[in-house]
Amino acid sequence: MALAAALLAVSATAFGLQASEALKAPNNDWNWALPQGFPQPRVPASNPMNRGKVAIGHRLFYDTRLSGNGTQSCSSCHLPELAFTDGKTTPVGSTGDVLPRNAPSVANSAYHRTFTWANPALTSLESQMNVPLFGTNPVEMGVSDKNRGKILRRIKRDRWYKKRFPKVFRWSKKPVSWFNVVRSISAFQRSIVTGTSKYNRFLGDKANLASDERRGLSLFMGEEGECHHCHGSFIFDDQSTYAGAPVERLKFHNTGLYNVGGTGAYPTGNQGLYEITGKKKDMGAFRAPSLLNVARTAPYMHDGSVKTLMDVVDIYARGGRIITDGPYAGDGAKNPHKDPLISGINLSEQDRRDIVAFLKTLTEKDYSKDPRFSDPFKKKNKRK
Ligand code: HEC
Ligand code: HEC
Repeated sequence: MALAAALLAVSATAFGLQASEALKAPNNDWNWALPQGFPQPRVPASNPMNRGKVAIGHRLFYDTRLSGNGTQSCSSCHLPELAFTDGKTTPVGSTGDVLPRNAPSVANSAYHRTFTWANPALTSLESQMNVPLFGTNPVEMGVSDKNRGKILRRIKRDRWYKKRFPKVFRWSKKPVSWFNVVRSISAFQRSIVTGTSKYNRFLGDKANLASDERRGLSLFMGEEGECHHCHGSFIFDDQSTYAGAPVERLKFHNTGLYNVGGTGAYPTGNQGLYEITGKKKDMGAFRAPSLLNVARTAPYMHDGSVKTLMDVVDIYARGGRIITDGPYAGDGAKNPHKDPLISGINLSEQDRRDIVAFLKTLTEKDYSKDPRFSDPFKKKNKRK
């Protein structure tokens, strides 16, 4: 709880937000190339999209000079070839701190209503970025009061940035500022909207699903599988939002992954919404993540404790996970805080394989092969 409160305090003060500056943004020259069925993303009035800003954010996202000791960039834990996740159970920050949670994708994050695994207070990409940049518990990028000026000087000295910042942030007295760094990276992340998966092409009548994938789809969308209740949106979550969307109640769910010692508890440090609200009923409640690209984002769940998609489906079929020994032993299926929709499903071996086959149709074209999103510091991706 202390952590959440501290983060909120940071977001209000970290940049000394200059509202008047925010209103004088350059002309909006942005065109969304929206996939079929994807609505217009919501963009904060204080940070309109434009191409120059997205280009700066793209480079900064991959720039290790942005971390205190120059060893990490955002892309260290959000790799394009792994759909902007990192393949690890939990990542390690730039100074060696182990993070408690698995790195989620930043693709299609323009549509998220809240950010990170269970924090209803982080409602914009801009505010989320305080965590990796300035967070101290744990340290990720390791930007602090001591080095924040020095890091900006590194950016200012770079010829590529020197040319672009003053153009894009014409009205800023100091174009290279943390405020503008955060706005640029947010705009880049917002720009990562794609719908190239086989399932998307199927929706547009441009691809066929094989018979196992179709059976998986109907199990996923049907009342037996129940998956669609929490993963039923166009990005397969239940919190997504877009321009003009009605405001719905925010949902977080306990899916019965733990029941430490039969008390209903989740492991300390990873107790979900409970860490923010302190309410027992929120124990183990996490956000249902988007399932786009899920075949590339293993390992799974908030703590990366589930290795394969088949293991995930087995847990849902059982109605929770049983852990037989060790410090976290307990039967998650009997967790008193579990969402009633996680009640166990009668699935044959073939059904399980079909669901996994369907989940694999949600894989997008490799982001590391798309020059709009790939690492601009890699020679082969250089545009100019
Ligand atoms: C050391 C690894 C690491 C680094 C470096 C890192 N992140 Fe993350 N990121 C994570 C983890 C872990 C989470 C989940 C945190 C949580 O749920 O508490 C996360 C969550 C996010 C989310 C939320 C996504 C969602 O679906 O809710 C965004 C957006 C994000 N990071 C952007 C960034 C940006 C931008 C940077 C660079 C300024 C960055 N990250 C640097 C590990 C990292
Ligand atoms: C009651 C809501 C709910 C239902 C029903 C549900 N899920 Fe989930 N799903 C979640 C939540 C919440 C998480 C994250 C849980 C955590 O990390 O503790 C999750 C995580 C996942 C993940 C891991 C994703 C990742 O990136 O780590 C997959 C895969 C998944 N669900 C697939 C399914 C399938 C398949 C079904 C149907 C058999 C299903 N879900 C039904 C809420 C639900």
